[in-house]
Amino acid sequence: MPISLHTPLDMHLHLRDGDMLKTVAPLSARTFSGALIMPNLVPPIESKEDVIRYKNRILETIGNEQFTPYMTLFFKPTYSRSFLEEVRDEITAVKLYPAGITTNSEGGLSGFDIDELRPTLEAMSDLEIPLCIHGETGGFVMDREAEFVPIYEKLAKHFPNLMIIMEHITTKESVEALDRFENLYATITLHHLMITLDDVAGGMLRPHLFCKPIAKRPEDREALLKVALKAHPKVMFGSDSAPHPREAKESPGCAAGVFTAPIALQALAELFKKNGASAENLQKFISQNAQKIYNLKPIQKEVVLTEEHFIVPKSYGGVVPFLSETTLDYSIHTVI
Ligand code: DOR
Ligand code: ZN
Repeated sequence: MPISLHTPLDMHLHLRDGDMLKTVAPLSARTFSGALIMPNLVPPIESKEDVIRYKNRILETIGNEQFTPYMTLFFKPTYSRSFLEEVRDEITAVKLYPAGITTNSEGGLSGFDIDELRPTLEAMSDLEIPLCIHGETGGFVMDREAEFVPIYEKLAKHFPNLMIIMEHITTKESVEALDRFENLYATITLHHLMITLDDVAGGMLRPHLFCKPIAKRPEDREALLKVALKAHPKVMFGSDSAPHPREAKESPGCAAGVFTAPIALQALAELFKKNGASAENLQKFISQNAQKIYNLKPIQKEVVLTEEHFIVPKSYGGVVPFLSETTLDYSIHTVI
C-alpha cells in the first residue's frame, strides 16, 4: 500500500556551505517541508548577519523548491538579552556544542556552570528560544552520552521554562530522562534506529557509519525504536544527516557523520512497516510532533511513497549515502 506523508520535517540537518551546500540542499528541499539547520560552519553562525546570509545562500541554492530552512545560532555564553531579542525572529533555536566534541565545535562550551550560563539561558527561556544540545561529555566514547544526562537534568531543573532538546539521542538513559522533566525533548536519527556499534566496527570498519554520538548497544537501539515507533510526543525525527566528501570518510582520520537526507523517508517507511508501526505514528514522528514542540506552521507538502524497489545510489555528488547500493522497499513516487 502506498504511504502518504504530509509535510515532512527534519529537525536536525547539516547543509554545510559552498559546493557541498549545492550538492545536498536540493536533496532535502525536494522531499522535506523544512529542516532545522545546524550552525557548525567554519566559522560558526554566531551573529544575526551570519544567520541571514546563510539562510539566503540556502534559499538561493534550492531555487523554486518549497522548503523552509529553520535557522539556528551557535551557542555562546556571552549572548546578551538584547542580542537575543534582536535575533529572535530570525532563528528557531540555539545549538549548544561542548567544546571540541564533534565536527567544527572547537568554539563550543567548556563548562556547565549554572551561574555562568544563567543570564543567557534565562533570556532564552523568557524569549521562548529553544536550546538544542549535543549531549556528550569528554569521557569514554561509549559512556559520553549517558554521562551527559545529569547535565541535561541540571539544566532542565534550573531553567524549567527553557525548552531543551536532547539532540540525536543514542542511549536508553536519554530515553528515560525524557519523561522525568517536562521541558526535555529529543530528536532521533534514522541511523541510530537501525545500527549498533557492531555495524560500525564489529566486522570490517565501516567509515560511512561513523558518527558522533557513535551508535551504541542493541538495548539502546531498542529503547530508541520503542519511543520512535510509538511516536512518543516528545520525540521527533532529526536526521543529523552530515555529509562529508568520500575522501574525508575513507581516510585514516575518518570524519564523523552519516549522510541520510535523500533516503530517510524511504528507509523510515520500511522501518516502521517492518516493525509493525502504523503510518499514523510515522506521520507524527516525521512532522506533527515537531510542529507541536516547536510551534511551527510549515509549508504543506505531500510525499507519496509506493512499494517499489529503490536502489540507493552509490554516491550523491561524491558523498556516499547511508545504505548505499542496497535495495529499499519504498520509493518516492510523487511530491505535491
Ligand atoms: O557525526 C556527526 N557529524 N555528529 C555531529 O555532531 C556533527 C556532524 C557533522 O557536522 O559532521
Ligand atoms: Zn548534527
